[in-house]
Amino acid sequence: MWNKTLAAAGLLTAVAAALALPARAAESGGDSHGGAVPPPISWSFAGPFGTFDQQQLQRGFKVYREVCASCHGLKFLAFRNLADPGGPGFSEGQVKALAAEYKVKDGPNDQGEMFERPGRAADRFPEPFPNEQAAAVANGGKAPPDLSLMAKARTYERGFPWFIFDAFTQFAETGPNYIHAVLTGYEAAPAGFQMPDGGNYNRYFPGHVIAMPKPLNDGQVDYKGPDGKPQAPETIDQYSKDVSAFLMWAAEPKMMARKEIGFKAFIFLIVLAGLVYFVKKKVWAPLHDHPETA
Ligand code: HEC
Repeated sequence: MWNKTLAAAGLLTAVAAALALPARAAESGGDSHGGAVPPPISWSFAGPFGTFDQQQLQRGFKVYREVCASCHGLKFLAFRNLADPGGPGFSEGQVKALAAEYKVKDGPNDQGEMFERPGRAADRFPEPFPNEQAAAVANGGKAPPDLSLMAKARTYERGFPWFIFDAFTQFAETGPNYIHAVLTGYEAAPAGFQMPDGGNYNRYFPGHVIAMPKPLNDGQVDYKGPDGKPQAPETIDQYSKDVSAFLMWAAEPKMMARKEIGFKAFIFLIVLAGLVYFVKKKVWAPLHDHPETA
């Protein structure tokens, strides 16, 4: 009896140790994809009940607009999406006014010419460059990628045992963790590092040489609210978190609706399982009570 208990305890300890070790290895920053493993961030939208923080999405949009939009497009997003439920929560009036600040290419008109007009709510965000080549030339040979799906496109291995837990917690935050890491990961290259022309050293970018110059600095984006006080810290770290959250929303604008439906389906299945169980009991009851009549 005692032997068995001891053996079981030993086994449990061994399993726990096996689970804990690789986790610590991952945190200390293995270089599996050529860049350090991004530190995990606690996002409001994580997990099956996570929701976007509307204020954060609004700030993130401001960062995108004032800093990233000069190089990166957001071609799958229309202005009117900013007023969709579960998003940054702009009013339709705000969206119209915002769209009108942009110039959108349209046409051809009756004379067969393309022309520019003020944006409308249904327009997609205009591209910063006329084409990929122009984008590359303006950025030292590397075109800045479109950011619409970036938060879903960049993942990395979290390794054992995380991938087991991740399946249950619906972990899907590698994208925003990575974007935040890249934006905050600029540092001086280690001594002796051969930096190619136009390259910038980044701790988290695979290979460490990124063509994007450090885009954010403390105090760059104004977060002041109507009361004149900043609504959130005006720091690189906070800007990076906010814009990563915004890009997560941009990549999956219907996330909150999806999670709500998923949760309802889950409750429905539990109730259904209960009903099925009682129906089964009732149907088979005569056989249990009077086995001789079977
Ligand atoms: C001056 C132009 C410029 C600005 C401003 C800029 N970027 Fe970039 N960005 C680039 C270029 C160029 C690349 C391609 C880098 C490469 O492949 O080496 C890039 C790449 C990226 C990537 C992809 C990294 C990867 O894994 O491939 C992300 C994410 C990104 N930028 C996010 C942002 C965000 C968010 C902002 C605003 C805070 C921003 N960028 C501002 C030029 C810019």
